[in-house]
Amino acid sequence: MKNLPPELAANAINAMMQPVLICDDKNKIVMANYAAQDFFQTSENLLRRQKIDDHVAPSSPLLDLLSYVHARQAASSEHKIAIGNVHIPKERLVDVHVSPLGGEQKLVVVTLFERTMADKISKQLTSQSAARQVTGLAAMLAHEIKNPLSGIKGAAQLLEQSAEEEDRPLARLVQQEVERIVKLVDRMEVFGDERHPELAPINIHAVLNHIILLAENGFAKGIEIDKHFDPSLPEVLGNWDQLVQVYLNLIKNAAEAVKNTKKPFIRISTAYRPGIRVGVPGTRERLSLPLEITIEDNGPGVDEDLLPHIFEPFVSSKKTGGGLGLAMVAKLIRAHGGIVDVDYVGDRTMFKTLLPIALPEGGKSRGEKRG
Ligand SMILES: Nc1ncnc2c1ncn2[C@@H]1O[C@H](COP(=O)(O)OP(=O)(O)O)[C@@H](O)[C@H]1O
Ligand SMILES: [Mg+2]
Repeated sequence: MKNLPPELAANAINAMMQPVLICDDKNKIVMANYAAQDFFQTSENLLRRQKIDDHVAPSSPLLDLLSYVHARQAASSEHKIAIGNVHIPKERLVDVHVSPLGGEQKLVVVTLFERTMADKISKQLTSQSAARQVTGLAAMLAHEIKNPLSGIKGAAQLLEQSAEEEDRPLARLVQQEVERIVKLVDRMEVFGDERHPELAPINIHAVLNHIILLAENGFAKGIEIDKHFDPSLPEVLGNWDQLVQVYLNLIKNAAEAVKNTKKPFIRISTAYRPGIRVGVPGTRERLSLPLEITIEDNGPGVDEDLLPHIFEPFVSSKKTGGGLGLAMVAKLIRAHGGIVDVDYVGDRTMFKTLLPIALPEGGKSRGEKRG
């Protein structure tokens, strides 16, 4: 490494997949590799006339991170930093690692790690396999618990009849608590149901309008619900009841999230994105998931600690929450061959679902109708 010719070192940085910038202690960019030029949609010449500050908000944690690294001369990283400029209209979230280069010039290397679709999908697949294990366990438990429960309930009923007056409330308490467990087990059983739903072409806007009607007259009263529908959206291959369950859960969560927001706001949007294809693990097949349905709210966002686990069962930050909503959403979306993910961009929490479109009769794979 010691005698590496300078041009080889530059080639090595350019060959890197991640966007890499070298900056001085005023955050001025002195070098940007190819991936960085691509990321910022700007040539190296132009980038060299800019500062990191031009690409982030004035209060961005990235600026704190840079001062920290300069002050301590020690490497450090920060997760989920929003980066955007005139060429990148939509802010992108990246993890950033900054390390000092040492030497007189006080340079630092800034490496960006994009949260790619591949990351999201692999994360999703891991949580899916975890969820699958839990659903198997849930189904088994539900089955094993219900039998003895009916025995206990029967015995408590008999006891109530023959007990002394003062002991009867106790016998009734046993029955009530048993009923509560049965209800819980019933919920678990639904969750453990691994049968494939019957799928038919469905207009997702009809599903969403149905839920919006429920929401506006019930759990989301007083919250502004904004519809942003793509009118030419093709039909989804889906199951009406399950899709209602999915979006009802997402919209309920959004309504609960904006409870303490000043101007509570939920946006429900649909879009056709023919470009999105997802690899199927272990095969060379690529599924097309062009239907994008997003539920967006202006609440405080998902707790940082919970974030990696929210699609797992029994994860909840709410006092009365069962934590089964999103696990159910993930399970049902999976049964539809789609994916669901969460993002936090520009003060908005977004739950995004991608679904396949319905093919005309006889179509073999879930391809695209247009585009
Ligand atoms: N739109 C949202 N904004 C912020 N946090 C959310 C949102 N949706 C879900 N969450 C978080 O994910 C957790 C799990 O959600 P869910 O599985 O529906 O269970 P529950 O709603 O019963 O708590 C919630 O408790 C909450 O902390
Ligand atoms: Mg919920």
